Amino acid sequence: MPDPEHPVPSPAWNSGPGLAFGGDYNPEQWPADVRLEDLSLMKEAGVNLLSVGIFSWALLEPREGEYDFAWLDEVLDNLAGAGIRVALATATAAPPAWLVRKHPEVLPVTAEGTVLERGSRRHYSPSSAVYRRYAAGITRKLAERYKDHPSLALWHVDNELGCHVSEFYGPEDAAAFRRWLERRYGSIETLNEAWGTAFWSQHYASFEEIIPPGAAPTTLNPTQRLDFQRFSSWVLLDYYRSLLQVIREVTPDVPATTNLMVSSGTKSMDYFDWANDLDVIANDHYLAAADPERHIELAFSADLTRGIAGGEPWILMEHSTSAVNWQPRNRPKMPGEMIRNSLAHVARGADAVMFFQWRQSYAGAEKFHSAMVPHGGRETRVWREVVELGAALRSLGPVRGTRVQSRVAIVFDYEAWWASELDSHPSEDVRYLDLLRALHRSLYLRGITVDFVHPSAPLDGYGLVLVCTLYNVTDASAGAIALAAEAGATVLVTYFSGIVDENDHIRLGGYPGAFRELLGISVEEFHPLLAGESVKLNDGGTGSVWSEHVHLAGAEALNTFTEFPLEGVPSLTRRAVGQGAAYYLATFPDRDGIERLVDRLLAESAIEPVADADFGVELTRRRAADGSSFVFAINHSGADASVRRVAGTELLSGAPFTGTVSAGRVAVIAEQ
Ligand code: GAL
Repeated sequence: MPDPEHPVPSPAWNSGPGLAFGGDYNPEQWPADVRLEDLSLMKEAGVNLLSVGIFSWALLEPREGEYDFAWLDEVLDNLAGAGIRVALATATAAPPAWLVRKHPEVLPVTAEGTVLERGSRRHYSPSSAVYRRYAAGITRKLAERYKDHPSLALWHVDNELGCHVSEFYGPEDAAAFRRWLERRYGSIETLNEAWGTAFWSQHYASFEEIIPPGAAPTTLNPTQRLDFQRFSSWVLLDYYRSLLQVIREVTPDVPATTNLMVSSGTKSMDYFDWANDLDVIANDHYLAAADPERHIELAFSADLTRGIAGGEPWILMEHSTSAVNWQPRNRPKMPGEMIRNSLAHVARGADAVMFFQWRQSYAGAEKFHSAMVPHGGRETRVWREVVELGAALRSLGPVRGTRVQSRVAIVFDYEAWWASELDSHPSEDVRYLDLLRALHRSLYLRGITVDFVHPSAPLDGYGLVLVCTLYNVTDASAGAIALAAEAGATVLVTYFSGIVDENDHIRLGGYPGAFRELLGISVEEFHPLLAGESVKLNDGGTGSVWSEHVHLAGAEALNTFTEFPLEGVPSLTRRAVGQGAAYYLATFPDRDGIERLVDRLLAESAIEPVADADFGVELTRRRAADGSSFVFAINHSGADASVRRVAGTELLSGAPFTGTVSAGRVAVIAEQ
């Protein structure tokens, strides 16, 4: 247990006895009697943190320059009276009608030139100078009014930046893109070189000639697309920073964040690039109800969120208590699933569990989205589970501030996700996440936790480093990966990695240019497989998606293709490097092949699971600076499961851990 002499300092957003607990609170949708009932229900559930005012601009400023803060004053005063802390929103995620009528130029424009109108939300472009001025205005008003309010613990800047629309193609966006390119390249000739514009008569005489890569007859310039993707991520961050500047001026001591959307489905923002501007990383995560392995996708999202947070604890800012309203079929969560989901995020580094939203709306587009207080009120399964979760989180105070343990790194790069999936490539079936997630899944099922690490971050301390589809890579990052192998790590590089530099220019002289030397191989030609095709491998397994003509140049072949025209050509290689080793994988193995590969990599790097457990138990360990540690054992199966090699006090029950986790339940063991 943590040393009581040196307690972990609590951030303002997490000052309760346990972990922070709450959700989005939209009191403006409800009359006074319901708002009063909210306070007693929040007390019953143990809520201590709420995001307030996210979509309330039109009520706070009903006409330009006319403000109505009375309702928000009352809400914040009541919450403060109830001891509930607030992540106060800047209210900028949905501009009011008067603003858009006066300035229709703030509206987003799509690649096809369609203007996206008001009537839903997020109807503004982050490049718009006019929008930024108004958004900074309401943010300043809120900051000045509530800067000394006792409930204010955190700023919630805008909401899910880049949600619904993440690329903007209007005239002001195009001008901002040009200015960004001028700063990046300095001269138009440098841009011409980087974009390879000698091709297809794309040479530019000045920055003024450049437009965003919108609708076009055929394949657009890939470097232009990559740069537009970089710009689009940056301009959303830059808009965030413009609001942060106001917040810092008025409330320099209040931390600020914005809720990210880290998942296998969100590709458009380079969140590693955003992390430094967020005082604490906050994430929203929703399960795909139709995915039978949705708990593994959750683990992927939570691990990646922790990677973006540099290993620091983070806030789960939104997830759902049960069904959402925006999937084709919105199934409720199964009994117990919401508590497992919540604690799985905590197991992977979250120190706060929050939901969209506190009370289920009775009107509007989200009235069929679940909430902490359902339409049916207190006499519901969802409410009972919410109350149970609140109690569980209260008992997890000792976990606060601890860090998740991992000796496996997956190098993760949003730029590689963007660039590897551009069109006119050898195969549209090479998708950045597929092999990466197959490896993550295998490790997850074995009770081995993975850290996601940006290519520019240090790899010290990792015994196993997985480099998946890192198509574009800088010399510096490729060098750091090679050094990790020299220093003793087992490194795996998978096909279509190291092919191009940061400008998407081929590294000449044989693939995979950036890793050829490290791996001791050279690839002469790619042989992508047809849809549904597979090839036989010498070990009896099969490969799909990809094959290629690999030559050995210092490595040994561990497995080979067996079919014409690649019979005898290596499909898996290994080279001893310094204190470690470098493996290369030239195809997408079947499930057994993935398991054999992971067995081998773990044996070589001497990495063991957190504990021994029956199938279906998710395992992680969080460790405090003083050495005390906590094992999370989450039983996703329908049968009681045994967990061996762990002893201590089970925090949710307060009793000694028996070695069994009941079907569908969770144990958090403070180890002795
Ligand atoms: C998020 C959003 C919330 C709510 C939620 C519904 O994208 O931030 O405001 O709409 O989805 O799942």
